[in-house]
Amino acid sequence: MCGIVGYIGHREAFPIVIKGLQRLEYRGYDSAGIALFDGNQINLSKTKGKVEDLKNKAKEISQAGSIGIGHTRWATHGVPNDVNSHPHYSNSGNLVIIHNGIIENYESIKQELTKRGYTFQSDTDTEVLINLIEEVKKTEDVKLGKAVQIALNQVVGAYAIAVFDKEKPDEIVVAKLGSPLAIGIGEEEFFIASDASPFIEFTNNAVYLEDEEMAIIRLGKEIKLRKIKDDAVAYPRILELQMNLEEIEKGGYDHFMLKEIYEQPRAIKDTYRGRLLAEQGLIRMAGIDLNMEKFLNANKIIIVACGTSWHAGLVAEYIFEDLARIPVEVEYASEFRYRNPVITDKDVLIAISQSGETADTLAAIKLAKEKGAFVFGVCNVVGSSIARETDAGAYTHAGPEIGVASTKAFTTQITVLTLMALKLAKTKGVFSETKYREYLSELETIPSKVEKSLESNTLIEIIADVYKDSTNCLYLGRGYNFPVALEGALKLKEISYIHAEGYPAAEMKHGPIALIDEQMPVFVIATKKGHYEKVVSNIQEIKSRKGKIIAIVTEGDEQVKDLADHVIEVPETLESLTPLLTTIPLQLISYHIAVMRGCNVDQPRNLAKSVTVE
Ligand code: AGP
Repeated sequence: MCGIVGYIGHREAFPIVIKGLQRLEYRGYDSAGIALFDGNQINLSKTKGKVEDLKNKAKEISQAGSIGIGHTRWATHGVPNDVNSHPHYSNSGNLVIIHNGIIENYESIKQELTKRGYTFQSDTDTEVLINLIEEVKKTEDVKLGKAVQIALNQVVGAYAIAVFDKEKPDEIVVAKLGSPLAIGIGEEEFFIASDASPFIEFTNNAVYLEDEEMAIIRLGKEIKLRKIKDDAVAYPRILELQMNLEEIEKGGYDHFMLKEIYEQPRAIKDTYRGRLLAEQGLIRMAGIDLNMEKFLNANKIIIVACGTSWHAGLVAEYIFEDLARIPVEVEYASEFRYRNPVITDKDVLIAISQSGETADTLAAIKLAKEKGAFVFGVCNVVGSSIARETDAGAYTHAGPEIGVASTKAFTTQITVLTLMALKLAKTKGVFSETKYREYLSELETIPSKVEKSLESNTLIEIIADVYKDSTNCLYLGRGYNFPVALEGALKLKEISYIHAEGYPAAEMKHGPIALIDEQMPVFVIATKKGHYEKVVSNIQEIKSRKGKIIAIVTEGDEQVKDLADHVIEVPETLESLTPLLTTIPLQLISYHIAVMRGCNVDQPRNLAKSVTVE
């Protein structure tokens, strides 16, 4: 996710764009930039770092002008640095663009433009797009709006863009597919932004572009709305916004955590976008392709991580061994780094980290590298310390995770790890083509199945009210859902401060069952796939001791419904993909219990989003 802001009107653009970017920093904050038009030339400043850094750097340029566009970046292609920051110029210097999204086919477009003499300063997909627009404008001899429309029909991916042409300085062209874009409509002025927070103080009249819509915003004129596909006229739907600033930053949700729970369908889709080509039966992951032999010939794969990322690693252990038949060990990074582990240059280490800054995980990576192991990173922050320290990697595209409790990071990590395991399994030949394609097709249905799982939120809120005053909880799961049980317990602990433990369901008889009484809520993951009958037996053992049972079941399950005190349904899917669905109700139950207990959900006591200390 990135934040885009634009202004065209009668005021000075600079302060509006800068303040607007500050309000959008929750969408990304690894670099920022601004371009202003002072009536003669475009003055552009951009820098790695936060908007505050941009304010300082922009002192070097003229800040005059009533037209401006700005960008705060969450890197997806190209590490965070000055050159990769937006806005980006076209080769002629006449056009500038800001972009939120991912252009999947930018490499092939870049090759073609290079053949036509274009040069590129950055590693970004966005700079390719602005030069494609310039090339279309030149070869088709059309105005900016038409050039944007033609160019976008050659593009595959997601975007919210704003483009300015200094040769036509009374307009800004915007377009949207997959990433949000709002237009604020004021008196003789227009605002452009990823959400309304940059302009809500100036106007609450807004047009939210729909996917595959573009607009030519010209001073003194009505907005011209068009369909990108065929340039057909579209009609703006002007909304009168009622939200306040804080509500807008949280997308109308009460907390960032809830917003991020609901972002998971989009985050999972963005994570496999450009990598999962189900129709062609392909998984495209350069970091794996270039190092395939290391993975296939590894003595063992060791996964190191902390907290929720460690739970994602546990899920990966089941997936890699079950599907790819590759031995995997999962270790807490903090233990691995100090126990003098046996690791050689024949081993592969996978480090999982949302922040990419966790000190223990970073130290474990350095230890493994000292011993010659190949290190692969799964991170959510482009250019983070762990991303830079590893030999190769694959980013999750969850977008910034602001809530301290990790949610979309967990499901997008599992998505990346599943893609890796499937790719290795196919290359090893342990998978038939049919089975492989079944997995690829099912993976594509996960975002909609997560949406369906989220529909239980109202029921979950009711259940949360029943158990919000508990002092202890148990979480049980088997197989792929054992790590989900651990993750569910961690979520509850860290935001509601209720003690909770996750266990393999079969472990109950080895001690924990002594805890069961009518005061003990037990969350049991009892989906149809994976040892279902055995989990049902565990539920009966709990019930006979008057334990309270909240079961996560496959939709349509009747058997558990007769046994449990509450059931929450998730759609059916392949066994190895159930963690992507069963974790959703557990995220929501911990969220609602924490809210009902008056806890600070986004910043729980004693916790930090990134544990950069040991
Ligand atoms: C999870 O909800 C916690 N916030 C915490 O356990 C976190 O997963 C852990 O600190 C690891 O962080 P990382 O993924 O950024 O390395």
